[in-house]
Amino acid sequence: MAANVVLIGPPGSGKGTQAERLVEAFGLRHVSTGDILRACVRDGVAPAGVKDDDGVVARIAAILKAGRLVPDDLMMDLVRATLFADADSGWLLDGFPRTEPQADALIEMVDADGPEPVIVEIVVPEEVLVRRLSSRMTCTSCGHVVARGAAEGAACPSCEPGRMVQRDDDRPDTVRKRLVVYREQTRPARDVLGKRYRLVEVDGVGTPDEVSRRIASVLDPAH
Ligand code: AP5
Ligand code: MG
Repeated sequence: MAANVVLIGPPGSGKGTQAERLVEAFGLRHVSTGDILRACVRDGVAPAGVKDDDGVVARIAAILKAGRLVPDDLMMDLVRATLFADADSGWLLDGFPRTEPQADALIEMVDADGPEPVIVEIVVPEEVLVRRLSSRMTCTSCGHVVARGAAEGAACPSCEPGRMVQRDDDRPDTVRKRLVVYREQTRPARDVLGKRYRLVEVDGVGTPDEVSRRIASVLDPAH
């Protein structure tokens, strides 16, 4: 079984949904850079590893809302401080790297701290992504997502204080912008990782259970 995993795929491909299942099945530590950034905005506190200078939280909030990318140097500091914090467990990285410089930085970090990750790319057509994101509700507290059915402000099924809301960046214009950012900036990062590590493409269409079975069989054929 691979000890470290990078989940890569466009917005709405199911990285968060699959991460929840995989961390449980394989005992990995889930590091979602999107969840960390949203928690920083919610709590008004800079993420671990990032200097809490004037305005950093407000700058992150504005970038998230616009569907643009947070600067590479900030993201590298954040991941460096979080990913290798606990040497005893394997990690599952969701949302990083998203640019070529971030991919190069991850390779450098892994060279220093190993072991090599398996890259799992979740492949989903764009029209399905737009449909999924426009009906997604997300918990303000734990980040749990549901596909549809929850009313704005309904109680989270997964944690006590949480409320289900539509993410600011799930409005249609911002979704389109995020898909362009993915094509232009994250696909090249995926190619950098694919040249260096084992990269497996997994079909992300089907029920969440079907997709997680596909991923599990890639990570551990005996699973
Ligand atoms: P982030 O939170 O990482 O967002 P994302 O990559 O755009 O991905 P999403 O969380 O939107 O989708 P997902 O793939 O997790 O899908 P989900 O499982 O929810 O990043 C947010 C922002 O933070 C970025 O835009 C950027 O500004 C910033 N950021 C983060 N990392 C950064 C970095 N490294 N550098 C710079 N900036 C960074 O599923 C989607 C929906 O589909 C859900 O409703 C779910 O229930 C449903 N669903 C899932 N699987 C299925 C299925 N198989 N069938 C049907 N429905 C499904
Ligand atoms: Mg996510």
